[in-house]
Amino acid sequence: ADEPLVLGIETSCDETGVGIVRGSTLLVDAVASSVDEHARFGGVVPEVASRAHLEAMVPTVERACRDAGVRLADLDAIAVTSGPGLAGALVVGVAAAKALAVGLGKPLYGVNHLASHVAVDVVEHGPLPEPTMALLVSGGHSSLLVVPDVTADVRPLGSTIDDAAGEAFDKVARLLGLPFPGGPHVDRAAREGDKVAIDFPRGLTSGKDLQRHEFDFSFSGLKTAVSRWVRAREEAGEPVPVPDVAASFQEAVVDVLTRKAVRACADQGVDDLLIGGGVAANSRLRALAQERCDAAGIRLRVPRPGLCTDNGAMVAALGALMVERGREPSGLDLPADSSMPV
Ligand code: KG4
Ligand code: ZN
Repeated sequence: ADEPLVLGIETSCDETGVGIVRGSTLLVDAVASSVDEHARFGGVVPEVASRAHLEAMVPTVERACRDAGVRLADLDAIAVTSGPGLAGALVVGVAAAKALAVGLGKPLYGVNHLASHVAVDVVEHGPLPEPTMALLVSGGHSSLLVVPDVTADVRPLGSTIDDAAGEAFDKVARLLGLPFPGGPHVDRAAREGDKVAIDFPRGLTSGKDLQRHEFDFSFSGLKTAVSRWVRAREEAGEPVPVPDVAASFQEAVVDVLTRKAVRACADQGVDDLLIGGGVAANSRLRALAQERCDAAGIRLRVPRPGLCTDNGAMVAALGALMVERGREPSGLDLPADSSMPV
């Protein structure tokens, strides 16, 4: 086959991800997570994440090769997340990828984490329509991107001006006494609740705020509103209806995300919307996005939840596209760039 065999390494946060693709066919997606080690701190501790990546790296690469039935010598290229993310965590992946590339004499491709969240969908839904609109929502970012070429041209249209969507889920989960990371727990609790029980604020959706921040997001006001509402209940000695709070909070987040994403498609004349990042695993976000895209005549692509959260397959998928499109490999001076723009 002339499709490139590419191994991708992702260490931008707390998942040590190693994926292998042949072109746009996913062979293996191995992930070792240090999330349990962070849970007792209620958030990702960078130093703990870096050490965990170092310990997990070689076993995860070995497992990926074994499960894919691939020898390192067969690889055509090594791809790695070079940013954005936690500096000390990125360094571990970049160093490992350089070592593999040098040792095997194969080209190295540094990739952008946000672009790879978009590229991963090719392994699930086939060739990416370009331009595509991408809504990336995770613990670290909430962005709308116009993507004319995922390997070379990704344009930011808007982003959060305070908390990321996943961060809001995690903080509200904590207020409700749910474990970290809170997104999946809020999602589950919300299924038993009433999404119109409490009218929480939708940030940057009206008046001057909307004019100035048409495609930006804000979730810190929402988080504060939830916190006030819960505290008032507690002070009145009344029980907190966790499912109703979860459902109403979640609705406020996904209402804004989907409304702005659909509006962005119309504004930019783009007919395809892709949603990625950990929050794209949210069941209500997936349902409401489908409903609104159907109504607006927009095709929606959302990778399966396991490919929405951070993983190595997304890096391998973008690396393979870079090989196929003849992009220049990175030099061995490839940096780990924690604040890398798209
Ligand atoms: O993409 P990701 O794995 O890591 C980052 O790059 O941040 O995203 C993790 C975030 C966490 O904030 C987590 O709570 C959230 O994604 N998340 C969810 C769900 N599953 C994960 N948020 C809402 N609903 C979910 N089902
Ligand atoms: Zn991510």
